[in-house]
Amino acid sequence: MDEKYECLVIGAGPGGYVAAIRCAQLGMKTAVVEKRKTLGGTCLNVGCIPSKALLHASEKYEDAALHMGNMGIKVSPKLDIKAMMKHKDSVVGANTKGIEFLLKKNKITHIEGTAKIIESGKVTVGKNTYEADNIIIASGSDVISLPGIEIDEKKIVSSTGALELSEVPKSMVVIGGGVIGLELGTVWRRLGAKVTVVEFLDNILPGMDNDLRKEARKIFEKQGLSFKLSSKVVSAKKTAKGVELALEPAAGGKAMKLKADVVLMAIGRKPYTEGLGLDKAGVNLDERGRIIVDDFFETSVEGIYAIGDVIAGPMLAHKAEDEGVILAEMLAGQSGHIDYNLIPGVVYTWPEVASVGKTEEVLKEEGVDYKVGKFPFMANGRARAMSMMDGFVKVLADASSDRVLGAHIIGPGAGDLIQEVVSVMEFEGTAEDIARTCHAHPTLSEVVKEAALAVHGRPLHV
Ligand code: FAD
Ligand code: NAI
Repeated sequence: MDEKYECLVIGAGPGGYVAAIRCAQLGMKTAVVEKRKTLGGTCLNVGCIPSKALLHASEKYEDAALHMGNMGIKVSPKLDIKAMMKHKDSVVGANTKGIEFLLKKNKITHIEGTAKIIESGKVTVGKNTYEADNIIIASGSDVISLPGIEIDEKKIVSSTGALELSEVPKSMVVIGGGVIGLELGTVWRRLGAKVTVVEFLDNILPGMDNDLRKEARKIFEKQGLSFKLSSKVVSAKKTAKGVELALEPAAGGKAMKLKADVVLMAIGRKPYTEGLGLDKAGVNLDERGRIIVDDFFETSVEGIYAIGDVIAGPMLAHKAEDEGVILAEMLAGQSGHIDYNLIPGVVYTWPEVASVGKTEEVLKEEGVDYKVGKFPFMANGRARAMSMMDGFVKVLADASSDRVLGAHIIGPGAGDLIQEVVSVMEFEGTAEDIARTCHAHPTLSEVVKEAALAVHGRPLHV
């Protein structure tokens, strides 16, 4: 037996490393096992952070090429893709090193290697065995592909390969019009690729409010993304030049061909539990391979817990983090609770798309009596000054109590603007609360206030 810990965390992604930090803050002797060379999991290494670095850089490039001239700044940008990738890698490096620092600062033991659970309280990493009062599985998720289509990370890439292309493909087909498809499709479109998104459903961004989905598609089309909706890819054949795809209407019918230099597979992710030894340990999975947990994040085996992408719920870094914090606090004898309805979702395209709470479609389905307030960025002075007038804020409130039930934003800074509504909803606030709160002028946040005023039919600036 090598060491004994009060808490041993498997996986150093946002779920795992945050759980470990909180456990250590609460006085538990804590270790984190990570099989990757660098810490931070999917999010920091091949997810949130590198994708945002490329989204930001490519946005600047497109601004310089297309938009800055309108404000009197005439430039002709020259793309250096190698340097852009180097910038992205250095952002990733700084962030992953930051987690190393945080583990050290909190006196958390970092064990490098692949963890396997032997039984409750016992984990092996290579030849070493560790004992732990509590084991937290935060092993995250992995990419999925379509049957018969192999991801080679060169011509047929997952998000990981799409973050590392060494040159701009002339053409790219993205399979899946969800978050990854739109974010990374946007990056490569901005850098010069002709991008076509193939989506199985009749619109992009399933699960979001229909008004947002419609507006997002309209704007992305205007920017140059092409969409093939209600379509499914049935086969992909690699050729000397690229990939040849066969597409069929989702409902079945005549197939058509589509060629591309690079294909990005972005049809969702699956929970990652390989090599953990869950079967032998008696940890139960659901029909989608997710670890089943109770309200205390405990699995079917006492003393073994799970959080983040490997359990049910949205696959988001902040959801994994919140679960990590709450679980650590519960292990320390405190109580905790997450309102999953209040986890915001943001798509970091331009404009950004952000959502919290219920969509209008869900409220209808649930038979809730609600009111809608909508306000366009077009009527906001700051948005005009920034020449960023696409989009709107939509606030949904209960018709009798006025409690905010959801907010859906497409527009500049949507990912930051949504946070005000998240806080108001967390405090069970009303549309009137937002409308009566003083919002600085001229800011984009005034659009949120105006949308709240619009719930009661009294917006000021339209
Ligand atoms: P992960 O981050 O996946 O970490 C799990 C870790 O466990 C991994 O490092 C893995 O190596 C390790 N591990 C697994 N098994 C073992 C084992 N047996 N032993 C040791 N280590 C093991 N979310 C957002 O909220 N915002 C975004 O902008 C965003 N952008 C994204 C962009 C992309 C391209 C992708 C792919 C994802 C993005 N996500 C985003 C999702 C986000 O990355 C995940 O929700 C988040 O990383 C989940 O955290 P986690 O801790 O559950 O798992
Ligand atoms: P997703 O679930 O967001 O989108 C997948 C899309 O593919 C859906 O629109 C679906 O209808 C479509 N699809 C499924 N099968 C298909 C098929 N055979 N043909 C055509 N289309 C098909 O999954 P995505 O984009 O892969 O992202 C995975 C996870 O990563 C998401 O759960 C997301 O939460 C997370 N993520 C979050 C980000 C953020 O918060 N900004 C950014 C990137 C990823």
